Amino acid sequence: MDVYEQMADFYDLVYSDKYDLQFYLNEAKKANGPVLEVACGTGRIYLELLGQGLPITGVDLSQKMLGQLVKKAKNLALKPDVFRGDMRSFSIGKKFKLIFLPYRSFLHMLNDDERMLALANFRNHLMDGGKLILHTYNPSKFELELTKGMHHLETEQLKAPDGSRYSLDWYLDYDDKAKIARYRIELRLENGEKYSYEMQLSYVGQKKMKKMFKECGFKEIKEYCGFDYGLVDANCKELIWVATK
Ligand SMILES: C[S@@+](CC[C@H](N)C(=O)[O-])C[C@H]1O[C@@H](n2cnc3c(N)ncnc32)[C@H](O)[C@@H]1O
Repeated sequence: MDVYEQMADFYDLVYSDKYDLQFYLNEAKKANGPVLEVACGTGRIYLELLGQGLPITGVDLSQKMLGQLVKKAKNLALKPDVFRGDMRSFSIGKKFKLIFLPYRSFLHMLNDDERMLALANFRNHLMDGGKLILHTYNPSKFELELTKGMHHLETEQLKAPDGSRYSLDWYLDYDDKAKIARYRIELRLENGEKYSYEMQLSYVGQKKMKKMFKECGFKEIKEYCGFDYGLVDANCKELIWVATK
């Protein structure tokens, strides 16, 4: 079963921070037109933008993740416009001023064929002059050396919105040949329940990303370091790509 189908009930405990929200909120306001979040998940960003009255559609591969989004929307008295689809192949008779993918979701595309299909599909769903925003990353030297098996990265002790305590243990196994990072997340709830999830993210170098955007016909390809539009240098970890149709 897809890892997000397995973790949908607890996704919001694992990925709870919103350090990127203001960035997407500003970009969606600037777009001044219809917005699409691809891989919208349980609505971490999607519901905030919808709550601000922005015209936003969402697509995600996981029905269970979308189920959580719809449940949360109901509690907030919001009416979401979301549908199930694969980023490589979804097709809706609508074009957008802005398409964005937060939280490195594009890196679930594990090879060039998948990446090119997805980029071409995003471009097909953009209006002329519309923008695509993707979040990718550069692994640190430390991470690149965590090969040949799972390595423990950190333990987080956290508090859920209902006040209960839980912990997260993060593990990483980096495959330098395939350029794939395999993560294991172990969740322990206060009531003793334990869950373990594994997922893979590809690592795509900056030169390759730029080349793929160009080959798919994007223009004005810009890269920033982090969500404050910083300059990209050799130490930049979180990369934000903005490309125009
Ligand atoms: C890290 S979560 C991000 C969710 C949400 N955007 C957020 O910021 O919290 C990645 C999401 O990508 C979705 N996903 C993975 N592969 C996908 C695909 N091929 N097409 C569409 N969505 C996909 C998963 O179901 C999951 O909801």
